[in-house]
Amino acid sequence: MKKLVLFASGSGSNVQAILDHFTNSDQIQVSLILSNNPLAGVLERAKKAQVECLVFNKFAFAEAGSIHKILQQINPDLIILAGFLWKIPNFMVTEFSEKIINIHPALLPKYGGKGMYGSHVHNAVVANQEVESGITIHYVNENYDEGAIIKQAVCNILPSDTPADVARKIHDLEQQYFPITIEKLLQ
Ligand code: GAR
Repeated sequence: MKKLVLFASGSGSNVQAILDHFTNSDQIQVSLILSNNPLAGVLERAKKAQVECLVFNKFAFAEAGSIHKILQQINPDLIILAGFLWKIPNFMVTEFSEKIINIHPALLPKYGGKGMYGSHVHNAVVANQEVESGITIHYVNENYDEGAIIKQAVCNILPSDTPADVARKIHDLEQQYFPITIEKLLQ
């Protein structure tokens, strides 16, 4: 059985799509869901799906190395950042190189980098009157949103679209492509 570990900070609609996609798989399972946010909606989703989850703080993540040790014990085939907002420490990137992937709600290299997440991205896309946006699934390296691109998918943006409209289009693309891209990577 191949093992996934998911990191999420928010509502977890991407985590939900991944859980749903692999729920009956006899080849791939979600082993653990990790969150830095004790109020994140994703925790309720993990509970419902009866998947182990763990909330951690910055010290456990970046200094004490306890999250790193848990990852070493599980030895996951893929570590997935599904709406996770903290930077992955370099020692983790080095150890799990080519095994950590992220989903970003824009067509990188556009609208990437520190502070560019969630609604900040959609606000900027609308403010700049873009005619298209999309999603990028990419490997994680030492710099925000700069790892090698695995998959991009595009949607049209209408002049009348609000940031909330863009967010809906992006979430649709994410749910359509993230689980199948993960599956393909593990084949
Ligand atoms: C997703 O749109 C994801 O692309 C974005 O956060 C959202 C989380 O939604 N990630 C980033 O902005 C990372 N820079 P979710 O909690 O419903 O999956």
